[in-house]
This record gives sequence, C-alpha cells and structure tokens, in this order.
Amino acid sequence: MTNPSCLFCDQVQPQILGIHPYVPGKPVSELQRELGLTRISKLASNENPLGTSPKVLAAVQAELSEMARYPDGAAFEAKAALARFLQVKTSQIALGNGSNELLELVARVFAGPGDEVVYSQYGFAVYPISAQVVGAKGVEVKAKGWAHDLAAMLAAVTDKTKIIYIANPNNPTGTVFGKAEWEAFISQVPKQVVVVLDEAYLEYCDDADYPNGLDYIERYPNLLISRTFSKAYGLAALRVGYMVGCEEIIQYINQLRAPFNINYYAQVAVVQALQDQDFVAQSVAENKRGMQQICSALSSLEIEMIPSSGNFVCAHFGGKTAEVNRLLLQKGVIVRPLGGYGMTETLRISIGTAEENQHFIEALTAVLAELSGAAK
Ligand SMILES: Cc1ncc(COP(=O)(O)O)c(C=O)c1O
Repeated sequence: MTNPSCLFCDQVQPQILGIHPYVPGKPVSELQRELGLTRISKLASNENPLGTSPKVLAAVQAELSEMARYPDGAAFEAKAALARFLQVKTSQIALGNGSNELLELVARVFAGPGDEVVYSQYGFAVYPISAQVVGAKGVEVKAKGWAHDLAAMLAAVTDKTKIIYIANPNNPTGTVFGKAEWEAFISQVPKQVVVVLDEAYLEYCDDADYPNGLDYIERYPNLLISRTFSKAYGLAALRVGYMVGCEEIIQYINQLRAPFNINYYAQVAVVQALQDQDFVAQSVAENKRGMQQICSALSSLEIEMIPSSGNFVCAHFGGKTAEVNRLLLQKGVIVRPLGGYGMTETLRISIGTAEENQHFIEALTAVLAELSGAAK
C-alpha cells in the first residue's frame, strides 16, 4: 500500500531514504521546556565546559557590527594563522563548517554508487552517513573490544574501496591506537585509497605513543588529517574545523565546498584562538581533573567503563541503561545514550566542570539507589 504522506519518495534519490540522521545531544532548552528544571548539566556533546577563551570572545564582540557583510570566501587570515601554527602550507589546508562538513566533502569527492567506504564498528556516526549520502556502500569492520581493529580494516579494503575513516581517539568509545599499529596500517593501505584520520580529540590525548597524523602527511599523499575547533578550543557554535593533506586533494575539497562556508566570526575566532594556547592547556588540564573525578566516582559505584583518551567516558549500565538515562534526565543531567551505535547498555558522559561532574555523580548515586530499591 502506498503511503499517502509520501508525496515525493519516488523522486528522492534512493540512498537518501535509508539515512538515519545524526542524533545530537539533547539541548538544555528542550529539557527545560519538558521538565521545567532550573539546574541542568549537559554532559552529552563533548563540548568545552570552560566555554571559550575570553580573548576570542573579545575579538568576536569587537566585530559584531560587521554582520551585514559576507566573509572572506578564502578565509585568508584564518588559513594563514593555521598554516603558521601547524607548519604547513595554506594550500595544504581546507576549512570546513565544522570538521563534519569536511568529512562529508571527502566522500563527495571520492565515492559514489558501486564504491566502498570502510570504517569501524563504534566509529563516529558521520562516517556511515557520509558514505550513504553519496550512494557508496558502507563497510563496517568489527571492532577489537571497543577499539578500531586496524589490521581488520586493512583486510577489508577491496578494489572498490575509496575511503577509510578512522578516529584517534575514537568517539564515542574514547579508545586510542599507538604508533606501531598505525604505521603498520598506513604503510600497507593501497596508494589510491584515501585515509581520513579524524583527530577531533587530539588535544586531550597525552599518550606518549600517540601518532600525530601531521607527521605522516608528507610520506602518504593519500592521508588526510581532520581536526576541529569545537572541542578543546571551545568554538562548537561557530562551526569550524580543518583538514590537512596533499595539495591536490585539498584543492578538490575546496572546489566543492559552499562559498563562504566559514562564517566571519569563525574566521576571527580561529586567528585569536590559535594565539591563546594557554586556554587550550587550561581546558586540557580541567578535562584531566574532571576525568579523574568522574572515573573515580564510577569506580566507587562499581560501574564498568571504557578507559578514554577524549573529553568523555563511556560507562556500562547493563539492562538498566535506558532507565538510568531517563532518571538522570529527571534530575537535570543530560548524558548520551548510544543505542544508535549498537551500544544499548552504555551511556557516554562528557566531562564537565567540577560542579557539573558533581551534579552527575550525585544524580547517578541517587538513581542507582532508587533502582536497587525498586528491585528489592
Ligand atoms: C570523532 C569526531 N569527528 C568529528 C566531529 C565533528 O565535529 P565538528 O563538526 O564540530 O568539527 C566530532 C564531533 O563530535 C567527533 O566526535
């Protein structure tokens, strides 16, 4: 029987019909509307709990009257500042409306119907979406525990593979791989297959064995490094991320991006944010303290976790997960359920300020007591 509300489904590109859109964290305003709560802690979107560098805020505020003008379409100043900071050429950098836009643009440049795009089980949700949007086949490779299995990802490459997406550290699991595993992988990927190494959480990872993607781009022209200003730099609302790689691929991405994809305030903010590395260091230190605060509380409550190198941690609640999430919301704490990743017994908790973390710990302690009382 035809669906009467489906006026255009025959016209829509078939691959679009099957897309499960990205589900973002619940906004604070939504929970406020639903429950009328005043104290809400949003620990659901891996944002920077310290906010934004005051120097960036001042620079953006000073430019508010420029709102009527289009920004520089080439984002010259922002790109130049980034090139200096990263010690690469501006022609090796593409800026995106969040790194999300760039992840999707790579798929549009390289993949289409009949092609394959490889990513890991529990990999970031945007990878399968990017493949699907262009009609390519997404190939999900089974994880090793909760982590990427790079050897298995390599083995999944066929002559149809166009792109491999990998996150290090990974979101949502927080797992990280080291240099030996990475080098064994990247050295064996066929030269025509593009590898996108997503380092959205790089700033938080203090593992001495962490392979910094930029160290490999000269040797591997098929390697693209993706990073963002949304996390440790505290600019998620402005939507700005970047990709670094060989000039030819960067040029294809730039050919495809929308004109003015980096808004003026994002451009101003990037220049200032790169100069305020103290703020980034402070954010990373605050994250480390918060991670300890949350992990030691979860341990005391005998909740199992996945050790994380990001600004979030996954905790397992077994069959009680949905109930724990529902009751946390009632107490004003928003965390992220991971059913969309097939992790139905896990919640991801973003690290907040000490006060937000404490709110979560108190709420969770009460929720678990309530649930164990109800079970008796
Ligand atoms: C692994 C990973 N990559 C990319 C992104 C996209 O970030 P943005 O579009 O804000 O740069 C995120 C956001 O959560 C992420 O977790």
